[in-house]
Amino acid sequence: MTARDLTTFEAQPFGLTLARTLSESVPIVRVRLSTRPDGSVPQSFALDDAASELRYRELSGSRLPLGLTVHRPVESRWELTLPLADDVRCFGLGERYSGLNLRGRTHTLFATDDKNHLEAIDSMYKAVPCVVLFRAGVCTALFLDSPARTRWRLDPDLTGTLGIEVASRRGFTFYVIGPAELPQVVGAYTRLTGRAPLPPAWALGHHQSRYGYESAAEALAVARELRQRRLPSDALVLDIHYLDEGRPFTVSPTRFADFEALVQQLHELDLRVVTILNPAVSAAPNDPLGVSGRERDVFCRAGDRPYAAPARPGLAHWPDFLRPDVRAWWGERHAFLIDRGVDGIWNDMNEPALFGDEHPLPADARELPPDDAQLFLQTTPEGDVGHFEVRSLYGLTMCRATWEGLLQLRPNQRPFVLTRSGYAGMQRYGACWLGDNFSWFEHLRLSIPMLLNLGLCGVPFTGVDVGGFDDDATGELVARWYQLGIFYPYLRNHCSIGRRHQEPWQFGSLVEDAVRRLLEVRYQLLPYLQGLFHEHRQTGAPILRPLCWHYPDDPIALEIDDQLLFGEHVLVAPIVTRGTRRRAVYLPAGRWYPFGGGEPLLGGRYHSCEWGWSDVPAFVKQGTILPLAEPSPSTARLSSAELRLRVFGTTARGVLYEDDGASRDYEHGGYNRWQLRVNGRKLRATLEHAGYDAPPRRVVLEGPGYRREVQLKR
Ligand code: GLC
Repeated sequence: MTARDLTTFEAQPFGLTLARTLSESVPIVRVRLSTRPDGSVPQSFALDDAASELRYRELSGSRLPLGLTVHRPVESRWELTLPLADDVRCFGLGERYSGLNLRGRTHTLFATDDKNHLEAIDSMYKAVPCVVLFRAGVCTALFLDSPARTRWRLDPDLTGTLGIEVASRRGFTFYVIGPAELPQVVGAYTRLTGRAPLPPAWALGHHQSRYGYESAAEALAVARELRQRRLPSDALVLDIHYLDEGRPFTVSPTRFADFEALVQQLHELDLRVVTILNPAVSAAPNDPLGVSGRERDVFCRAGDRPYAAPARPGLAHWPDFLRPDVRAWWGERHAFLIDRGVDGIWNDMNEPALFGDEHPLPADARELPPDDAQLFLQTTPEGDVGHFEVRSLYGLTMCRATWEGLLQLRPNQRPFVLTRSGYAGMQRYGACWLGDNFSWFEHLRLSIPMLLNLGLCGVPFTGVDVGGFDDDATGELVARWYQLGIFYPYLRNHCSIGRRHQEPWQFGSLVEDAVRRLLEVRYQLLPYLQGLFHEHRQTGAPILRPLCWHYPDDPIALEIDDQLLFGEHVLVAPIVTRGTRRRAVYLPAGRWYPFGGGEPLLGGRYHSCEWGWSDVPAFVKQGTILPLAEPSPSTARLSSAELRLRVFGTTARGVLYEDDGASRDYEHGGYNRWQLRVNGRKLRATLEHAGYDAPPRRVVLEGPGYRREVQLKR
């Protein structure tokens, strides 16, 4: 095939269609580039076009947007380029080991289990191929809907170009969203790819985990410690030790002999149980899951046999989650865990990770091997496809299988699914964390821009292993990490086998007391956090936001990525270096109250702030009413806990969101949203949306120098 540029409709030999959304305030241009004569790509895998609310109209004779050119030098490589002005910042691209601005290097998106979380790491567990170009507050998002390997050259050589390489034989769909302001662009992107459902309230509490609690007795002992030491918590996580030799949907008959009794005892302690599952299914001839899978032909194939390679359960097969019948088969299997009382499911190793073969497509491969030489074959409605064409969808489709399985089994309960791998749209299936980080201050610091970039690609329910996974944590690191961690939407303490135990009491009473106090604050913040999840559903706004989300014209705010906004009104600026008690905090325009009390500080400048071990390193903007709950040991009684409306300033506003925290009724209007206003000391509460019959609870208004009970009248 001859190399040629493609800039207009007439260009051949590949099909191109251009379309534009109808009736959208933010323009979206959709470009389909395909090897097929009808111009369609085999399947827009992340997006179920039929389910999308957006409607498109074909454009004809148009040139490609943004001065984009497309070039196809070899059959399985597409190269897109567009000019990139000097002052454009690049955000997004999902999970990147990077500061907020991704410009100046090449980023590879291809789901990979790479443990070297260092500057040189390129592909990570998730691939969200959406970059947000930000220039003087005006943004355009480029979303390249392809789960094949994509490489984004964000002007590493200062040539003023953005280049994207797509390793696909079939083609892809490309969306240009904007120009508009950052919140509008992310809003439109999340209308396209979906928004996160509301988590069950318990999933927003503190999760205690370790790889691994090695027996039922150890798990129970940890749970009892959490309660005896009054460390607010909601979940205990069981890593692979609970499984029988790593095989999905089994329980170890020796280590976790009476599993149901354990789950019941944990429930009696008001702790939920989250269990891990890997997708690898044992290929042993007598493994019941393997037998069932082979009978139904559910596995990815090498030729006409199930593909097999080493993984946790020994030689293993991988279900082909692209197929709806396979997702249903996997989903139904969760009855095994649900019947035993398990509350949430953790999907791990779903890049998928193969032992000893973390990079199955060599980084320097210029062309894709033929379909049948791409590790294995998967099945789409259009026929067989080589795995590398669809690799980054493996994690998302596994989560979808889990999510749909849980909904079948417990139709009116909000599922909790946690994943390591994912693709654009993964937010529809729950939470994610950033895999195997290290107990290093550097990784505490990097978690801020990494989670901010994920949020800008529509993924709000995120966290990282608090305290760090690999390496030994210190008490100082753990205390500092909780100071930030209480603001992670997903909050889990987790660490690796062979490493120092990391539960908050492992480091002496000073650290334990600090963590207790911080966790109490997390539990106080839950009503506000629930409101932020609701806001995400309404608008697509992430929960953790870079300062430029709300202050796009402030040149200093634009550079800051070691601070974040937790919703609009809370600014978090933790200590992220060892041996430090003080740091410079930049406060944008306005006045900001220290979270822990005291006079407001003037924004538009830096302040030097000292944070002790149990301080909450945050500020609240003047004019805010924060809905807070009284501190409690778990979320079990959250909806009837005393509500504290904390007022920062003499006139202030806020939003209170309420629902039952458990069912899916909110999807059909089963929630309340109050607009709150305070003037002087007088509260005006307007019920903007009424759909939930809230249980009675005490409501207290707390302002500078006053505290009194108030009624919220419907
Ligand atoms: C992977 C996960 C880690 C887990 C471990 C054992 O490394 O990323 O969180 O603890 O596997 O299951």
